Amino acid sequence: MMNDRQAPIGIFDSGVGGLSVAREIFARLPQENAIYFGDDHRFPYGPRPAEQVQRFALQIGDFLFGLGVKMLVAACNTVSAVALPLLTARFPVPVLGVIEDTVHYAAPLSRRKRVGVLATPSTVASNAYPLAFHAVDPQIEVVQVASQFLVNLVENGNSDKQGALSATLRAIAPFRRAEVDVLILGCTHYPYLKTKMVELLGDLAQIVDPAIAVSLRVEQELLARGISNDIKQGQNIFFTSGDAGRFRTVGQQLEPSVQDVREMRWQE
Ligand code: DGL
Repeated sequence: MMNDRQAPIGIFDSGVGGLSVAREIFARLPQENAIYFGDDHRFPYGPRPAEQVQRFALQIGDFLFGLGVKMLVAACNTVSAVALPLLTARFPVPVLGVIEDTVHYAAPLSRRKRVGVLATPSTVASNAYPLAFHAVDPQIEVVQVASQFLVNLVENGNSDKQGALSATLRAIAPFRRAEVDVLILGCTHYPYLKTKMVELLGDLAQIVDPAIAVSLRVEQELLARGISNDIKQGQNIFFTSGDAGRFRTVGQQLEPSVQDVREMRWQE
C-alpha cells in the first residue's frame, strides 16, 4: 500500500501536448511517481464548448483520483481556463492548473506591458489569461491569438514537417505587429514549436513556456503539504484514451520516458 508521499502525481491533457508540462515535472522531481493521461480519443479540446471540456476534465479527474493520485495537474490550458474551480471543488487533493502561475511568472517580464498569448479558441474565448494578467497588473495589455492548426500539427507528430515553419510564422505575425515583448505559449502543444518561434521572433519577445512555472509550483505544493516523495527514483505510467502505439510513437518524440503506455477506453 502506498502512503501519501509515494502516491503518484496525476497529470492530464487532451493529448500528447501535456508531455511538455510532464517533462518539466519529471526533470525537476525525478523521485516522484507520476501517471499521465492523454485524452487522445476526444482530442481536440480547443474548439469545444466549455461545458464539454468541463465534463471531460471531471471524468479524467475521477479516473486519476481512482488510481490514488496525491495531486492533480491540469496541464491543459483549455481545461485550466474553463474547469479549474469544478475540479478543485470535486477532489480532496491539491489541484493545479497552468494559467495563474504562468501569469505571475510572466507579468514582471514585460517592460512594455504588452503580452501575447497564443492559445486554443476555447482558452481565448474564456479570457482566462487577460483576466489573470489584469488581476496582477491592470496596465498590462494582452494580445490573444487562437491557433488550433498548430495544436493539430504537434498532436499529429508533424512539428518538424515541411510547412510547420510557415504555419508558425502566420500564427505569430499578429504578435510581431503588436510589438509584444513577452509571448506565452498558452497551449501545451506549442512548446514543441518553440525553436521555430525563437528563430522567427529573435529578440523581439521573450517566449514563456508555462511548464517552468508549473513544475516549480508542483514542487512548492508538495513540500508545503509534506507529501514529497524522497524515497527513490519515481516511475511514470502513461494512459491514453486513444491508441497506445500511436501515443508511444508521437509521445517518444516529445518525451523519451514515454515507454509504459496503457489504453483506457471511455465507455460512452
Ligand atoms: N493541449 C491543450 C491546451 O493546452 C488543448 C489542445 C486541444 O486539445 O485543442 O490548451
